[in-house]
Amino acid sequence: MRSHLLNDTTAEQYRRSVTEGIERVAAKLAATDRPFTGVTVDALAPTIDAIDLDKPLLDTAAVLDELEDVYLRDAIYFHHPRYLAHLNCPVVIPAVLGEAILSAVNSSLDTWDQSAGGTLIERKLIDWTTDRIGLGENADGVFTSGGTQSNLQALLLAREEAKTDSFAKLRIFASEVSHFSVKKSAKLLGLGQDAVVSIPVDHDKRMQTVALAHELERCRKDGLVPMAVVATAGTTDFGSIDPLPEIAELCEQFDTWMHVDAAYGCGLLASVKYRGRIDGIERADSVTVDYHKSFFQPVSSSAVLVRDASTLRHATYHAEYLNPKRMVTERIPNQVDKSLQTTRRFDALKLWVTLRVMGADGIGQLFDEVCDLAVEGWQLLAADPRFDVVVEPTLSTLVFRYIPAAVTDPAEIDRANLYARKALFASGDAVVAGTKVGGRHYLKFTLLNPETTAEDIAAVLDLIAGHAEQYLGESLDRAS
Ligand SMILES: Cc1ncc(COP(=O)(O)O)c(C=O)c1O
Repeated sequence: MRSHLLNDTTAEQYRRSVTEGIERVAAKLAATDRPFTGVTVDALAPTIDAIDLDKPLLDTAAVLDELEDVYLRDAIYFHHPRYLAHLNCPVVIPAVLGEAILSAVNSSLDTWDQSAGGTLIERKLIDWTTDRIGLGENADGVFTSGGTQSNLQALLLAREEAKTDSFAKLRIFASEVSHFSVKKSAKLLGLGQDAVVSIPVDHDKRMQTVALAHELERCRKDGLVPMAVVATAGTTDFGSIDPLPEIAELCEQFDTWMHVDAAYGCGLLASVKYRGRIDGIERADSVTVDYHKSFFQPVSSSAVLVRDASTLRHATYHAEYLNPKRMVTERIPNQVDKSLQTTRRFDALKLWVTLRVMGADGIGQLFDEVCDLAVEGWQLLAADPRFDVVVEPTLSTLVFRYIPAAVTDPAEIDRANLYARKALFASGDAVVAGTKVGGRHYLKFTLLNPETTAEDIAAVLDLIAGHAEQYLGESLDRAS
C-alpha cells in the first residue's frame, strides 16, 4: 500500500497515474458534443449504488474505466458552448495546471510553517486585488471557499464593528434580488429574524437608493442599528449592479459598513473596457470576489477584501499548537489569523499561474466577450416576438420567458416554460437555468463562455420554443 503514497520513491508512478487520468479527461473533452447526457437520477443511481467501496479494484486503469460510468460520462460540462445555466465558467488551462500542482504539493495556507511561499503568493494576490478595487494602503483580505463564505466573513466583521448592546437591534440592508447568502449569514451570525431589510429594485433591477435612504432613516428612528448595507455588483439573476457611489454616500451618512458583493461582477476588475461599471466599489469597507465565477478559475477560488486590515482581527484566535500570539511580534505571517477556516487549500496558486501566463488583460478580455455576447443575445430576444426579456444585460445574464401567441393564461405560460427547461435538460442539447420574476416562471442564460456564439443562443431559443410548443400542443390535446 505504501506504493500509493506520493513521495520521492513514487514520483514516476505519480507521473504515470496522473497522466493516465489527464489523458482520459482530455479525450473526454475532445469528444463531448453536448453539455449533458440527460441521464436521470433513477437511471444513474443504481450504477453508483452497485459499487462496493469495500471491494477496491486495485488498478488505476480499471478505476478510470469505472469512473467513466459513474461520473465522466454524465457530468455536466461547463466548457460546452451550450451550457448556459448557472454562474459556472469554463476554466483556463493555466488555472488547471495550478490546481494539479497545489493538490500534489498540498500546502495548507493556515500557517507559514505549512505553506511558506504559498502564504506570500496569496498575500500578493490579495494586494493585487485590493489595488484593482482601489481599497487603499491599509487594505487586506484572505482567500475563501466561495462567495457565501466571503459574504459571511464580511458580515461577521461588520457585526463586530457595529456599535450596539444587542444583536437583535442590528439591521442589514440588501436589495430584493441580492444573493441568499446574505440572509443565511444573518442567521449564522445570530441576528434576529427581521435582520435583513429587503430594499426594492428599479426597472433595471438595481437597488433603489431613495428606498434605502428611507429604510436607514426609519431604522435610526426605531432605535435600531444599521449594521451594513450589502450592495450587489452583479446580481445572480440579472447581473445588475447597484448604484455604488450613491450607496457609499448613504453608508457614510449613516455611519454604516458598506459591503459590496462582487462575486459575479468582479470580472470587471480585469476589464479595460467595462471597469467603469463598478466605479464606487473603492469606497466599500469589504468586498466579495469570486474568481471561480468571472476569472475563469476552477472551483474554489474566492476572496474577501477589507479596507481596514485591522478589522480582520475579529476572525483571529490564537492556539499554542498552531499560531501562538508571540508569532505576531515575531512577524511570522499566519493567514489563519485572518480566516474562518483553519486547514485551507492553496487556491490562490491557480490565479497566480493564470495571471503569470495570460495576464489580467487576457482574463478581462474573455469577460468582456461574454458581456458583449449578452448584448447580442438581448438583441435577438428583444426582436423575437416569441419571447419576453426582462432587462438589458449589464454583465452576461439574460432572463426571458417564452410567450406563445395563442395563450394568455400566465399559469399555462409558466408551465410551458418549466416544461421547456426540463425537456431541454433531459435532451442534453443545452442547459439553461430558471428563476421567478414578479411571481412568474422565467428562464435564464448565464453566459460565461466566450466560445458560445449568437448562433448557439438562437439555436437554443428555437429548442426552447419547440419544447414549449410541444407542451402546449399536448396540453390542448389533454383538454379536448
Ligand atoms: C451575487 C452572488 N453572491 C454570492 C454568491 C455565492 O457564491 P458561492 O456560490 O461561491 O458561494 C453567488 C453565487 O452565485 C452570487 O451570485
